[in-house]
Amino acid sequence: MTPLRLGLAGAGRMGRNHLRALAGSDAVDITAIAEPMRAAREALPRMNATIHPDLESMLGAGGLDAVLVCVPSDFHLATVKRLAAARMPILCEKPVGVTAADALEAAELMSATGLPFQVGFWRRFVPSLLQLRERIVSGELGEIYMVASFQWDGQPPSAYFRTHSGGIFIDMGVHEFDQTRWLTGQEFGEITSLFCGVAVEPWPGDPESAQAMAELSDGTTALVSLGRRFPLGDVCKVEVFGTRNAVECKFLWPPSADDVFFAALRKQAESFARHVRGAAREGAGGHDAAAALAAAERAAMRAARV
Ligand SMILES: NC(=O)c1ccc[n+]([C@@H]2O[C@H](COP(=O)([O-])OP(=O)(O)OC[C@H]3O[C@@H](n4cnc5c(N)ncnc54)[C@H](O)[C@@H]3O)[C@@H](O)[C@H]2O)c1
Repeated sequence: MTPLRLGLAGAGRMGRNHLRALAGSDAVDITAIAEPMRAAREALPRMNATIHPDLESMLGAGGLDAVLVCVPSDFHLATVKRLAAARMPILCEKPVGVTAADALEAAELMSATGLPFQVGFWRRFVPSLLQLRERIVSGELGEIYMVASFQWDGQPPSAYFRTHSGGIFIDMGVHEFDQTRWLTGQEFGEITSLFCGVAVEPWPGDPESAQAMAELSDGTTALVSLGRRFPLGDVCKVEVFGTRNAVECKFLWPPSADDVFFAALRKQAESFARHVRGAAREGAGGHDAAAALAAAERAAMRAARV
């Protein structure tokens, strides 16, 4: 089968990660890129893709089967709307906007078009997490008392990113909220949370660390721990305590963190290609994004004591 011809909207930090992950894929070929910033265009590696200064130019050139959305989070909804009007299947980076209402609008719009819509919660393609999910679903760990998810990044993102990404629970926490729903099959109930008062560089509206604790729909307790600085670099782990067994899964941890991340991005895009060609969606959908954002929003409001 010929590779899916994918257009990339936004070639910043994450867009370039996808380019690296998909280099050499037989299933997905990034054939066009829309990137308005000249510096970002000039920083792109040499490749066969056609480079456009904006989305309109990329869509106008035609020849695409689908678009990967990697624009800043507060432009996700507008970009999804434009792509829906152009009848493009979409693989959208998380969080799908910066509010649950944004994600829900995108999800409903894409459902109405009947076009494939997948969300970039790449954790769902990490083999060790897929195995952990299977152990939970099969009952091997017993009933689950607690799922604790940790995401600590090496360094905070750029100033621009911090002001366009909704804050720590929306930007980072959606991964943990989605991962917890996906691992347990349970929904988030009552949530309590705290912003941490410690910061190397205090940033208005975006603390360097935050923690949430929640009750899930079958009684499991969920913990979410987030940090923007960690001496070992970007790390993620999840701990599960059940009535029969307990598991610690350091699924993104040096020295293999990069390998795991790029392999998951590639599997995610290749699963999206199968979905565009008629297979069932394997990754997260728009309503998953809305549910993760709704939990993240409640955690952010509780921590801010709104
Ligand atoms: N899944 C993950 O683990 C993960 C990690 C990092 C970022 N992300 C997500 O990826 C998205 C982008 O984040 P980033 O770190 O790459 O940000 P970034 O600021 O580095 O890059 C965004 C790029 O989009 C470009 N852009 C802006 N408006 C555009 C438009 N209308 N059309 C085309 N391009 C446009 C900008 O010029 C910029 O180069 C965010 O939504 C973020 O949440 C996901």
